[in-house]
Amino acid sequence: MKAHLQNSIFKKLSKLAEETQTEVYVIGGFVRDIFLKRPSKDIDILVVGNGIDFAEAAGKVLKSKVSIFKSFGTAMLRHGELEIEFVGARKESYRSDSRKPIVENGTLSDDQLRRDFTINAMAISLNADSFGKLVDPFNGIDDLEENIIRTPLDPAETFSDDPLRMLRAIRFATQLHFKIDESALDAIRNNSERIKIVSAERITDELNKIILSDIPSIGFKHLYNTGLLQHFFPQMVALYGVDIIDGHGHKDNFYHTLQVLDNIAVHSSDLWLRWAAILHDIAKPATKRFEKGIGWTFHGHEDKGARMVPKIFAQLKLPLNEKMKFVQKLVQLHLRPIVLAKDIVTDSAVRRLLFEAGDDIDSLMLLCHADVTTKNDFKVKKYRRNFELVTQKLKDVEEQDQIRNWQPPVSGTDIMEAFGITAGKEVGIIKNQIREAILEGDIKNSREEALDLMFEKGKQMGLSPVTSSK
Ligand code: CTP
Repeated sequence: MKAHLQNSIFKKLSKLAEETQTEVYVIGGFVRDIFLKRPSKDIDILVVGNGIDFAEAAGKVLKSKVSIFKSFGTAMLRHGELEIEFVGARKESYRSDSRKPIVENGTLSDDQLRRDFTINAMAISLNADSFGKLVDPFNGIDDLEENIIRTPLDPAETFSDDPLRMLRAIRFATQLHFKIDESALDAIRNNSERIKIVSAERITDELNKIILSDIPSIGFKHLYNTGLLQHFFPQMVALYGVDIIDGHGHKDNFYHTLQVLDNIAVHSSDLWLRWAAILHDIAKPATKRFEKGIGWTFHGHEDKGARMVPKIFAQLKLPLNEKMKFVQKLVQLHLRPIVLAKDIVTDSAVRRLLFEAGDDIDSLMLLCHADVTTKNDFKVKKYRRNFELVTQKLKDVEEQDQIRNWQPPVSGTDIMEAFGITAGKEVGIIKNQIREAILEGDIKNSREEALDLMFEKGKQMGLSPVTSSK
């Protein structure tokens, strides 16, 4: 173990422990990550005694500023790229209506017993007489070897201490590809409703970690099967299931969505593109109809889905900014590239898509590609061919017309100066007409042709040019 405590700060903390006659350990994620060979920059130091006092003394030794969080009884300092958090050993129980603990000072083993999982409860001694010794009372090492998430106490008790841990169990299982112990899964199923006392921010932090894993579907299947998902993201649960009328079923949109999400995860680590995958069909349940002679339809699910995005973002305390707008745009446009392949593709339709998607066109194409989840080889081949066709068209049209980052070749100021008018609806009308003419292909995307059209449209509206040359 000593080999993993090479950084000089561990020796310094050990010396300080001896001088102050304090028992001190490294604990939690840092220890776990040593065995997982995932180098970690977050170090949790457990102090048997007053964590804040020890942190302040450590701050002097390491010449680092200490931030104190009095209400949590913790303190933190940064040293180079390391973030070191100090906490006093606790013997705690949580009130059932809140996650604010009633804290009493405890020993190392009291503290380990109240931690979330066996793999997170391992400690390494920084004390002079046992420096580098692993203290692993619940065989966390074995559980790491066997790839299993298990709680130190009866899972119902561990989860009732902090219900967020139900979600953390699923998050670790997804990140590490571990199984969750059966009795822990049962306890999650039985207590899923208690997730409601946890704030949306904390839930979403864990959810985003699941989404950013390499196979996010692992986590979502657990979230669905344990009943947790229903309590904070019911719109996604509504995607589950298949209706059958007259022998016609539609695909299960929950599993389809997970497949799209896993597909996207192979190609992109962008959280927001992954959110777009999760939400692309979110309005299918609300728009589902069975039409005689046609079958199941989901008309307008892209528009309704885009309208649902702000509410879902607000409910999950996701940012209501340009990230949300990006997700909304992708949900709105997710069917468009494929439609281009189905019809005889006109340049103007391609230009319109480039105009609407702008710089997000590549993300949109990734989403579209990921959306092909049919197992029918013939269909896959057909879709892929169409997809290539559209990709090529987009490339050709973009090379020719540069619509992707389109800026109007004639500005509002140009129009006002040309006709000696002030800002008003005429300016907007002319600008729109120029944009439409370019997108339709009636004129080239050039300043010269746009100016000609401006004068022509202005005259039709009864405006006289300031200069008489045109
Ligand atoms: N912990 C806990 N219960 C929680 C949160 C955390 O018992 N609800 C304990 C665990 O021992 C955990 C440690 O506090 O290892 C640190 O928590 P945190 O920093 O949230 O997670 P890490 O385990 O470090 O993992 P990651 O960095 O991946 O979040």
